[in-house]
Amino acid sequence: MAPDELAALHALAFENTLRPWTANEFFVLLAQPATVFAALDGGFAIGRIAGPEAELLSIAVHPEARRRGLGRRLVAAFEAEAAARGAEEAFLEVAATNTAAWALYVRAGYTETHRRRGYYARPGAVPIDAIVLHKRLSPAPPAAKDSI
Ligand SMILES: CC(C)(COP(=O)(O)OP(=O)(O)OC[C@H]1O[C@@H](n2cnc3c(N)ncnc32)[C@H](O)[C@@H]1OP(=O)(O)O)[C@@H](O)C(=O)NCCC(=O)NCCS
Repeated sequence: MAPDELAALHALAFENTLRPWTANEFFVLLAQPATVFAALDGGFAIGRIAGPEAELLSIAVHPEARRRGLGRRLVAAFEAEAAARGAEEAFLEVAATNTAAWALYVRAGYTETHRRRGYYARPGAVPIDAIVLHKRLSPAPPAAKDSI
């Protein structure tokens, strides 16, 4: 997907809830070596890695393509790519009012670490809390066997 297509999909997916990212912002982000990007027909996920940590920055699915498993596949693709590049854990933040995305992440195995109160503040609107979610990407070591 080209930067202008990503910007158009981002604007459509987030409607009035978020300032749309411009094509140039996507262009700059995609050019950075730390960026992790996954795309499927109708959606994309984008994030970055820093050492053993990955951060999912945005995920968007076209309104007409939702509830068909695309979001789940994009999260999985993002995680697979991040893990392949050395990430051991993933973080993301979601608006407390975004029940669809929050449910998607919980279903994908993310758990809440903490809440950032009033994180999403816009002029003339009530600030919304951000929920920070975490998931360990590396497989857990095999359970230790009882010694005899
Ligand atoms: C959040 C988003 C990416 C989900 O994409 P999707 O393709 O519809 O998600 P999936 O079909 O893979 O859903 C996977 C699971 O997430 C949960 N889920 C997804 N949408 C949901 C909704 N509207 N309400 C409740 N749970 C929802 C469900 O548990 C779902 O599993 P199920 O369909 O078997 O019940 C999509 O709604 C979107 O683009 N929203 C706008 C952008 C956005 O808010 N991005 C996240 C910013 S943090």
